[in-house]
Amino acid sequence: MLKNIILIGFMGSGKSSIGRELSKMLGYPLVDTDALIVERAGKPIRAIFEEEGEEAFRDLEAGVLAEIDADNLHRRIIATGGGIVIRPENRRRLRNLGYVVWLVVSPTEILKRTSRNKERPLLNNDDPEGTVAALLAERERLYRETANLTVETDALTMPEITTGIVESARYFFGST
Ligand code: S3P
Repeated sequence: MLKNIILIGFMGSGKSSIGRELSKMLGYPLVDTDALIVERAGKPIRAIFEEEGEEAFRDLEAGVLAEIDADNLHRRIIATGGGIVIRPENRRRLRNLGYVVWLVVSPTEILKRTSRNKERPLLNNDDPEGTVAALLAERERLYRETANLTVETDALTMPEITTGIVESARYFFGST
């Protein structure tokens, strides 16, 4: 396959774990935008939000994505943060990088998965349920317009998800 596979989707949609599996399966390196941001900032995402605010985090996120886009490397799995689609410039870069896969999961499952850790500053409040609903309402259209493929993961096993993504990407890139 020629280009990259990029995973987008809401917090808790499985981008990192599915990214790890795809990376193993294809032997492609996994690039994780959140991990690169933490490395650059020298502090956890929670601390970036607390000390510098969300816009500063979004600037870092856009900077990291611009670098990934500029280096022209192919055959990578790129896992992204749930809010990366907010900025139009990021949506353009994601499409330019390769095959964009939107991982969709139900709000119930999102809440179950994200309640286990407190590392997601946007949901660390009194009403995570309301926050998830509001953010999903804002972002669904952005995920949809950016994605080449939509995968509803709730009823699928990990091998079903990864095999489906790889087969669709091969078809998209026109090789077998
Ligand atoms: C965010 C999602 C997080 C992280 C940051 C903001 C968001 O990534 O980038 O907390 O705006 O949805 P995950 O989707 O990997 O949790």
